Amino acid sequence: MFQTLTPPPGDPILKVMTLYREDPRTAKVDLGLGVYKDAQGNTPVMRAVKAAERRLVETQETKTYTTLSGDPAFRAAMAGLVLGDSVPAARLAGSAATGGTAAVRLGLDLVAKAHPHATIWISQPTWPNHFALTKAAGLSFKTYRYYDAENGVVDRAGMWADLAGAQAGDVVLVHGCCHNPTGADLNAEDWAQLADFCAETGVLPFVDIAYQGFGDGLDADAAGVRMLAARVERMIVAASTSKNFGLYRERTGCCLVIAPEGERATVQGNLEVLNRQAISFPPDHGARVVTMILEDPALRADWEAELTEMRDRMNRLRRLLAEALRDASGSDRFGYLADQRGMFSLLGGDDAQIERLREEYGVYVVGGGRLNMAGLTEESIPMVARGIAAIL
Ligand code: LMR
Repeated sequence: MFQTLTPPPGDPILKVMTLYREDPRTAKVDLGLGVYKDAQGNTPVMRAVKAAERRLVETQETKTYTTLSGDPAFRAAMAGLVLGDSVPAARLAGSAATGGTAAVRLGLDLVAKAHPHATIWISQPTWPNHFALTKAAGLSFKTYRYYDAENGVVDRAGMWADLAGAQAGDVVLVHGCCHNPTGADLNAEDWAQLADFCAETGVLPFVDIAYQGFGDGLDADAAGVRMLAARVERMIVAASTSKNFGLYRERTGCCLVIAPEGERATVQGNLEVLNRQAISFPPDHGARVVTMILEDPALRADWEAELTEMRDRMNRLRRLLAEALRDASGSDRFGYLADQRGMFSLLGGDDAQIERLREEYGVYVVGGGRLNMAGLTEESIPMVARGIAAIL
C-alpha cells in the first residue's frame, strides 16, 4: 500500500523553520515563519487571551458538541470584526474552521461543490499554501501578476491585464491586507475596481484575511473587504485569528460566505455537510476565547491595546531596517520596506543568495527573500542589514 507513496516536496516556509531549529549557532535570526515575536524573541499568550481562558475554565460547564458550523456567537463576532456592518446577517452563512488555513480550504471546497470547473486566480506571488489548498480541493488555478518588485508596489497594470482572462464562475483570491509575502496592499481604488470587475464579469471574490490589525489598524485593514462585501452579491471570506489573537496552535479561523438571502440556508447547509465529511464539528476552545474577548468591552479594549503595541513595533522595525539598509548599502533601494505593511516584505534574491545569508550571517528568510519583520530586534538589525546589503 504505502510503497506507492513518494516523499513530499515540503512546504518552503516550514523548511526554513526546521533549518533554523537545527542550526546550533547562537548568533542567528529567524525571519522565516510568520509568527509574531516581542523584543525578547518570545511569542507570548496575549493578555486578554489569558484572562478569557481563565474565565472560561471557571465558567464553562460542558464540552459537548456545538453545531456542525461551530458556535453561532463566534461566527457573529467574527463577522462583526471582519465585515463590520457591511452585510446584513440574513445574507451571511459561515462556519468556524480549524485556523485560517482550513477556512480557506472550506471556502475552496464550497466552490468545488458549486462549480467544479472554476479556475481560482491566485496572486503571483502569494502564500504558497494557496496553491496547495486549491489543488487539494480539486480545483485548477491560474496566476495573476501582483507585485512590481522594482518599485515595491502592486503591479496594477499586470494584475488587471491578467484578470481580464477570468470568466464568470471563476474565483479571484485576494489578500484582505498585509499581503503575504509582499507587504504591498490594494488601495481603496483597487478595491472599488475589484467590486466593479466582479459585478461585471460574474467572477467571485474570495478574500483571505489573516493579518487584520497588523497593518494600519483593525478597521483600516478591513476597509477593502468591507467595501467589497457591501457591493457584491456573493463572496467568500476566510479569516484567521492565529496572528491578531496569537492563537496559532489553537487553530481558530472562520469562513464567511455572503450570498443572496434566498441562497443563504443552502450555502449554510453545504458548509455543514463539508465539515461533517472532514471534521464533524469545528474546534471550539479558541473560538470561545475570541468570542469572549470581542463581546466583553474590557477584554476587547485590552486586546486592541496589545495588538496596537504589536503593530507599532512591527512598523517601527520596518523603518529601522529600511534606515539601516540605506546606511549599509548607500542607496535607497530598500526604502519600500518602510512603506509596506504587515508582517512580511520581499527582499528578492535567488536560492544561492538566500543560502549565503543563512550560512554567512545566520539570517533565515524564506525563498524569494520573504522576511518576517517581527523576527527582528533593534540589536539584530545592524547584522541583518549588513548581510542583506552584502549579499542582495
Ligand atoms: C506564514 O506565512 O509564515 C504563516 O502563515 C504560517 C504558515 O502557516 O505558513
